[in-house]
Formats: sequence, structure tokens, C-alpha cells
Amino acid sequence: MEYLKNDPVKLNAAGDRVIIIDQRRLPQETVFLELGSIDEMYDAIKTLAVRGAPCIGVFAGYCMAVLSLAEKDRDSDGFAGVMKEHAKRLCMSRPTAVNLNWALSRQIGIMDKMKGTDPKVISQKLFEEAKEIHEEDIRMCLAISENGLSLLHDGDGILTHCNAGALATTRYGTGLGPILLGRERGYDFHVYSDETRPLLQGARLTAYELARAGVDVTVICDNMANLCMNEGRINAVLVGCDRVAANGDAANKIGTSALAVLAKHHGIPFYVLGPYSTIDMDCGSGADIKIEQRDPREISSMWYESPLTVEGAKYYNPAFDVTDNSLITAIITDRGILYPPFSESIRKALS
Ligand code: MRU
Repeated sequence: MEYLKNDPVKLNAAGDRVIIIDQRRLPQETVFLELGSIDEMYDAIKTLAVRGAPCIGVFAGYCMAVLSLAEKDRDSDGFAGVMKEHAKRLCMSRPTAVNLNWALSRQIGIMDKMKGTDPKVISQKLFEEAKEIHEEDIRMCLAISENGLSLLHDGDGILTHCNAGALATTRYGTGLGPILLGRERGYDFHVYSDETRPLLQGARLTAYELARAGVDVTVICDNMANLCMNEGRINAVLVGCDRVAANGDAANKIGTSALAVLAKHHGIPFYVLGPYSTIDMDCGSGADIKIEQRDPREISSMWYESPLTVEGAKYYNPAFDVTDNSLITAIITDRGILYPPFSESIRKALS
């Protein structure tokens, strides 16, 4: 499918800026941004111009490479110091998706290994590593998609939440990967996409991606999932993930855990899909995962001509929640389909 080849993150032709599709403006407008400064890069992640855990990781890899161009005339220590400051700043933009820190750590690892080498040479290596992170993401998404598709059947009704497609990664996606791959192979799925309050990634991005790929997609409000399950419309729930703890607890877009509770009640399989890089062995359980809190205006006024609620009302706007591992049927990764007990299957997959 042609549009899947359009990476949401890439380098410009000169190789001195990162180009992203501005996901804040989809689906109404397709606007590309060229980013060269640390402030622009930080804001792009913070405001969700670039978003989705794996996509943020690929973006961060390229950011470090591009940022190194302005610093490569410094001496070795000066270069390392300022590049680590950049990495720290990028890492602070969003705390939940582990892929951001994972990609930054890979780039810092390169710098540490090459300590004392001419920064110009290190800079070249950062570009190579960024490209490798990108290519690895494409390979991982394809493997996840194949593994996920093996669990689905032609004609299935599938519920998904947020956007875990090609926009949130660099090809196919994770949660949407099996659906997009299946479509290429002639499967007809009926996808129900939660609109995903408050930033509407499901209504804006998932519906856009699936419709463009020729997948039958129906947008529902977040509170309609139980009814759809009751009516027998849903055969499986497929979602992405931002950080998976060593025991299989999985953080994903706020509202995901409620779907898992419902799926369990209705006896519907609940699948979490993500690359091995989303598993964080430093988090023993979901309790260790930091949940991002976002600006209340995303709830109160962002989508309305005037504020929706009375002055004085308070807001609570966590961006993610954690699904308990007991509610997850399987975690579908590039390294295979992991089943409970997850502590064991995760350990084996990562060893
Ligand atoms: O806040 P967002 O839009 O970055 O949240 C994205 C999600 O929750 C995705 O499901 C997750 O990052 C996996 S994307 C393949």
C-alpha cells in the first residue's frame, strides 16, 4: 500500500533537519514540518505533532544525529556534555513511552563507546545509528503484524483504541499492523475505532489510516464499547502499548484498561501489541510506570469554540493508564506471541 511507505519521520534531503508529518493537523491537512533545533524537537513531542511510542523513539534517534551537526566542532568533552543535555531535555518531553528513552540511550551509548574520538566521526555514527533504529522499527512492526494476523480471522470485528498504526510507528504499526497487513492480503475486517478522548487519536488518525487503506472502519465514542461487545460486534481487541513492565502490566492510552475489563467480562481476547523495545525490565510492575499528566485545556476547551464547562470546575487529565496483566490474553511482539505467565514469557523473549 503506497501510503504506508510514507514514513511519519525522516531526514530531509540535505540530512540536516528531521521532517515529520504534523499529526495535530490530520486528517484535515497534511503538513510536513522540518525541525532543526532542540526547542522545536521538544515541542513536537510535547504537543503530539509527532506521537506514538515507537515513532517518538525513531524521531529521537534522528534528533540526536541532527543536533550533533551544530556541536561537532567542539572538543570531545564539550560535545559529549552538550549532547547529553539535549538528550535529557528530549527525554523530559513525555515520561511514559519507554521507546523515547530507549532510543536516546542507544545514541548516548554510541557516544560513550566512542569517547575521545573526533566529534565529527561520532556525529556520522549517530546518523548511522538513527537509520538503524528506523529500519529496526520497520522490521519489528512487520514481524508484529505477521504474528498478530495469525490470531485473526477473515471477517472479524476488531475494537481498537487510540492510534497504533503507521503514523505511530514507521510502517504498518503495532495495534493496527495485523489489520493493515491483513487488508493487503485480502482480509475483510470490521474495525471499531474508539474516538479516544481527549485528543481524539482514534477518530482523527486511526479512522484516517484505515479508511485510506480500504479497511471498513466505524468510529465510536469511548463509552460505546460495552454495547458493541454485547451486540456481538467484537471478536478481538487490539491495542498498542507505551511501556510494558516485567510482569506484563501494560501502559497505553487512557481508557485502554477499561476495555480490558470489558473484554474479560465478555470473554473476548484482549491483545497488546508492541516491539521488544517497549518492554521495560526496570519496571517490576505497572505501579512503577510514570503516568503523564497533561494540560486540562485538552478536556475543557481545546475542541470547542468556547470552554465547555463552568468556571471553577476542576480537571484530571492523565494521558495513559495501566492494564493489569491478568486481563491480557497475549502480548504480541516481534519476538513472538507471549502468553501468561508473562513474567516467564517476557524473560524468555528478552534473554
Ligand atoms: O499520546 P499518544 O498519542 O502518543 O499515545 C499513543 C498510544 O497510546 C499508542 O497506543 C502507543 O504509543 C503505541 S503506538 C504504536
